[in-house]
Amino acid sequence: MSRLFKRDQTFEYPVIERGDGVYLFDSEGRRYIDGTSGAGNVTLGHGRRRIAQAMAHQAGELAYCFSSAFTNRPAMELAERVVEIAPAGLNHTYFVSGGSEGVETALKLARQYHLLRGHPDKHIVIARWRGYHGGSMGAVSATGVPSLRDPFEPWLANFPHISPCYPYRCQAPGCQGTCDLSCARELEQAILAEGPESVAAFIAEPVVMGGMAAVPATEDYFQEIRRICDAYDVLFIADEVITGYGRTGRHFAVEHWETTPDLLVFGKGASSGYIPLGGVMISEQMADTFAQNQAFFAHIFTYVNNPVAAAVGLEVLDIMEEEQIVERSAQVGAFALDRACGLQHHGCVGEVRGKGLLLGIELLRDPATKTPFDPDDQMARRATKLCLERGLSVTGMTARDWGGGDDIRFYPPLTIEKAQVEESMEIIDEVIGVLSREFC
Ligand SMILES: Cc1ncc(COP(=O)(O)O)c(C=O)c1O
Repeated sequence: MSRLFKRDQTFEYPVIERGDGVYLFDSEGRRYIDGTSGAGNVTLGHGRRRIAQAMAHQAGELAYCFSSAFTNRPAMELAERVVEIAPAGLNHTYFVSGGSEGVETALKLARQYHLLRGHPDKHIVIARWRGYHGGSMGAVSATGVPSLRDPFEPWLANFPHISPCYPYRCQAPGCQGTCDLSCARELEQAILAEGPESVAAFIAEPVVMGGMAAVPATEDYFQEIRRICDAYDVLFIADEVITGYGRTGRHFAVEHWETTPDLLVFGKGASSGYIPLGGVMISEQMADTFAQNQAFFAHIFTYVNNPVAAAVGLEVLDIMEEEQIVERSAQVGAFALDRACGLQHHGCVGEVRGKGLLLGIELLRDPATKTPFDPDDQMARRATKLCLERGLSVTGMTARDWGGGDDIRFYPPLTIEKAQVEESMEIIDEVIGVLSREFC
């Protein structure tokens, strides 16, 4: 009997004892392909001894020093290295312990930056429906997934939400499956409605994952967002917690749009899951504003700029470079997407999409009319359970709160081999076959 509080009270979680590459092994000796690379964080795969050794070495030298009084070499070095792979123009980093902490930090940096420049009214942050930004209260206020917001609604701050960029189900009159960027221009309308003098920032994920299954923004979307933000002195915060560190076939996904945000939040792959680590990169202009004003950033967590986490971050970047992880992610991701598109021979597969090794497969009762399954059929839940029984861990969501379909999400370690992708797709193929026979 475990005293661990279970998130899903109906589920018997396998006890995982060991990981090796893309595989996890449970206490019954069963092997699973980790098709979600942990929570999207174990980008370099499991069982990397050299990361464990780097961590142990740093813990032996200096496990911790308080960032209010000291700095440390691993964190300073990592800040240099992260800037080298960042979109040009982002040049200072504040390290924290994960994605939600990174989002909270970005929101407060944005607010304080406007205060320093003499714009005390600028406080509103605009976000998007279906966006996911984490579990802390500022992050939930930005999140646009009703099922994750509703229980906590009385506590949430007022963050106006605009439509996501999602041509497959876009309601805009001019869109009809090919994006006319009216979704991006909704940002301009929202800024004007709130009053530009009161809007501080806009936050978005380049590829939506938490709230929809791997939906990339369309071509030119973030260029248009950049233009609008610049026009109204609104900061653009790119939430790259899941898309950063090579996941989409670039170091950071905004590179696909050749756009530099003012703040970029990262997490997950920064430590490949070996220790909690995230951070925020900011533009030179923002860093200069804090420097020129000799400002004090009124925000801290205990583990800011932690040396052990930074030592892991440095080892991760070394491995990424040595093994050309970003290039691999692009190549194997293209193979995986192609293979996943082949699943459309099943009558219940709607859109198949993604970027790099971030893939989503939408399941529908009738793809021709985009009619979803009855939520009570629990197709996503059934699909993930059947995959797990066959040795593949994937996630899926039933989009009952917004009229979308159920989905299956596949985002394995970026080190996955094509043969392992193939094996995963065969399992998904078989599972969709089983479900189609029962429900279609
Ligand atoms: C885009 C995005 N932002 C923020 C978060 C929150 O990160 P964390 O769970 O590390 O707090 C996540 C986590 O999945 C995410 O995908």
